[in-house]
Amino acid sequence: MSHHSKEIHPLLSYRHSFHAGNFADVIKHLVLVEILEYLTQKDNPFEYIDTHAGGGLFNLGSADAQKLQEHVSGIGKLSPKAFPELSRYFDVVKACNPPGAREADKLNFYPGSPSIAAYFLRTQDRAWLHELHPQDHKKLVKTMAKYKKIRVSCADGFKGLQALLPPVSRRSLVLIDPSYEIKSEYEQAIYAMIKAYKKFATGIYVLWYPVVERSRIDMLEKKLVQSGIKKIQRFELGISPDSDERGMTASGVFVINSPWTLFDRMSSLLPKLAKALGDGGEGSFKCDVISGE
Ligand SMILES: C[S@@+](CC[C@H](N)C(=O)[O-])C[C@H]1O[C@@H](n2cnc3c(N)ncnc32)[C@H](O)[C@@H]1O
Repeated sequence: MSHHSKEIHPLLSYRHSFHAGNFADVIKHLVLVEILEYLTQKDNPFEYIDTHAGGGLFNLGSADAQKLQEHVSGIGKLSPKAFPELSRYFDVVKACNPPGAREADKLNFYPGSPSIAAYFLRTQDRAWLHELHPQDHKKLVKTMAKYKKIRVSCADGFKGLQALLPPVSRRSLVLIDPSYEIKSEYEQAIYAMIKAYKKFATGIYVLWYPVVERSRIDMLEKKLVQSGIKKIQRFELGISPDSDERGMTASGVFVINSPWTLFDRMSSLLPKLAKALGDGGEGSFKCDVISGE
């Protein structure tokens, strides 16, 4: 991942504001929307836990977002007309923009995972957000201030997650979305997910990953298989072929205890998304079961 800001802490030079709305956000947030929609079909309360929450909402006109314009080749390539099946995702994006923004095909804002969760949260639900970067934390606190059921902490999400499990509501969605700035974060993330699962085996867990070096993702997959955890699926979207030299060429999520409808949804969506977002209309995708039942 790239380094864009003056370092506050060696682990915190990544700023999501440079990447908001890119193809990796699209796949991650689509899955998030699907699961949140599923969870809100029943009245029973649930808890949303975000280990790496980011700033919460991103101004696409800001200097950060304008610098790389990554959203142009992400959300910018999708339209509600071409993707009517993504209406819920577009609803969420629209809710974070001034009226008419989406129709005019010009987005001012792109939601981060906390804003997406906030869109779905009902009075009976709770959310716990962790963000370690002081500036992003401050922004997140401000963005979430109007939501009474959301707690934001400037703390290590890997640790915070363990303290929140098992959730009081006994229903939960955990998003683990690190910036993978240092290589050890791959192992740290997978161990955090496995440890969390051992504390609460019926929760839904989503681990996001970038494909920068394919071997790292193969390692994650191997560790998941070895963990003995059942019901693990993977959804991945690639914009160009694997390469160790070209930065992020694909990105995906591992999902534990995925709602039963998600696999079918993603298997029909991913080929279409790969075509729309892939370089030269030639993207790729993976939609598979890592561990069955
Ligand atoms: C990829 S971004 C998160 C994006 C966000 N989940 C979304 O979908 O909009 C990762 C964030 O994690 C923060 N971070 C890095 N290490 C952390 C840690 N150990 N605990 C909590 N936050 C951390 C970074 O400052 C960064 O804002």
